[in-house]
Amino acid sequence: MNSLLYQLKNHFNEALVTAFGTEMAGVDPLVVLASNPKFGDYQSNVAMSLTKKLGEKPRSIAQKIVENLNITEMCEAPEIAGPGFINLTIKPAYLEAQLSAIEKDDRLGVETAQPPQKVIVDFSSPNIAKEMHVGHLRSTIIGDCIARILEFRGHDVLRLNHVGDWGTQFGMLITYLREVYPEALTTADALDLGDLVSLYKKAKIRFDEDEKFKETAREEVVKLQSGEEDTRHAWKLLCDQSRREFQVIYDRLDIKLNERGESFYNPFLSGVVEDLEKQGLLEESDGAMCVFLEGFTNKAGDRLPLIVQKSDGGYNYATTDLAALRYRIASDSADRIVYVTDSGQSNHFAGVFQVAKRADFLPENVEVVHVPFGLVLGEDGKKLKTRSGETVKLRDLLDEAVDRAGKDLKSRLLEEDRSESDEFIDNVGKVVGIDAVKYADLSQNRTSDYKFSYDKMLDLKGNTAPYMLYAYVRVQGISRKGNIDFDNLGEDIKIILQEEEELVLAKHILQLSDILVEVERDLLPNRLCDYLYELSKKYNQFYDRCTVLQAEDTVKTSRLVLSDLTARTLKLGLSLLGIQVLERM
Ligand code: ARG
Repeated sequence: MNSLLYQLKNHFNEALVTAFGTEMAGVDPLVVLASNPKFGDYQSNVAMSLTKKLGEKPRSIAQKIVENLNITEMCEAPEIAGPGFINLTIKPAYLEAQLSAIEKDDRLGVETAQPPQKVIVDFSSPNIAKEMHVGHLRSTIIGDCIARILEFRGHDVLRLNHVGDWGTQFGMLITYLREVYPEALTTADALDLGDLVSLYKKAKIRFDEDEKFKETAREEVVKLQSGEEDTRHAWKLLCDQSRREFQVIYDRLDIKLNERGESFYNPFLSGVVEDLEKQGLLEESDGAMCVFLEGFTNKAGDRLPLIVQKSDGGYNYATTDLAALRYRIASDSADRIVYVTDSGQSNHFAGVFQVAKRADFLPENVEVVHVPFGLVLGEDGKKLKTRSGETVKLRDLLDEAVDRAGKDLKSRLLEEDRSESDEFIDNVGKVVGIDAVKYADLSQNRTSDYKFSYDKMLDLKGNTAPYMLYAYVRVQGISRKGNIDFDNLGEDIKIILQEEEELVLAKHILQLSDILVEVERDLLPNRLCDYLYELSKKYNQFYDRCTVLQAEDTVKTSRLVLSDLTARTLKLGLSLLGIQVLERM
């Protein structure tokens, strides 16, 4: 089923063509939600935008559009306001019919995208032998949400974990382990990630201060790259070790990912450099091979380079991304590639995309987008650290959220004099804790930094996961209290919208598909959060104002349907954010 907005746009397109001829076909009719309810539900500014083109006054253009609009079934008589705004109000009977139509639909009226695309979402992507940090957590949560929405819209999504599993860090680590803990290089499970991270730090110190060590480490990297068995085996063990640790976090967060790390592209790196050379794009600078970027300069005004081969002959992060981009287009047939990383990498991606375009690696019909996000800050507004000043471990962070959610629940149970099983308490704590962390991240405009606060994210009021879960639970409570089976409300249910709160809620429910189309385009999950938050608020207003179980029969059924539709919209919307609902809490 097409959304109200979509239907209105079509009606406007037809009216424009009838009124002004075929050159109007394809003109954006500029229909949007009304900025204020006193202007109705939707509004179009198209008349003003056409004055030059048509050489007429906007009010007279608006008049002609309105005369040709075929919307009597859908809207009250359109109003022309001010210089030529067209204001539209949807008729309650039409809203009722639209709700009845989505009531039977599992997708709640959300259409699939036509045609579906092959989309790669490159997200999470931690580095082997290093701890996964809060930046990776953001990438994981945002990337997963984007992937879920694209999947729901019917796209063929490949979720790729571009882990940092290649490069100098392994030379260092292997050399150091050969000295201090050789078993780790031959026996599986000899280390855990905590050891690996601290060993990595020590190895780095040796690397920086000892020339001989540095030399050996470099040789190990060469051995690794040329596929020497011993080194490869050690490398693989180290990767497995990290992978297991990462998996623990992914399982807790319910994240599905396909690992295809940097090492995968190793065989294609020299080809990238050769092709850049053939295109005449390569220049040498201080022994390194680079492509100088257009439009990127430093303070002194010198052009900035994208380095693709270092002076020691090694390839780097950018070379790998160029190889990955080519592979994803040629072998994965991607139509769109989405990269989710912190905004600190914006220049890197801008450089990679520019070079890919200039080198003809990137056809016109393929879209590449960097989806940047800001930093996670502590409550003091500085970069998030533990009390002792160390980087926060993700495992600890999730534990704490779950722990606090559990405590909050226990004190609430005490207040309400309710008793629940340990199993219940345990489960609610887990779900609410993880949901809260995810929602706190997704509900921010991702481009800004955000302050991490357990108290705020677990608050029952405000734009938080618990508030949303409550609205859902409230509806399930109605069904329990009234012994209602929402799937079986009877034949020929009539939805009746009379009260203002019912109309407002109904109109909001019908906007879900517009929001999803918007998130699919702009890749801003907070838009969906805002929508769901508004939905919860509107439902609560409806619930405060309109009796449900006590209402007379036909009204009662109608209100139950409205409640059920709200709950289903919440559940679907939250699931697209990667957030699980609870039936009781
Ligand atoms: N491993 C990188 C990091 O931790 C992120 C990789 C992002 N993806 C990419 N294709 N470069 O910063």
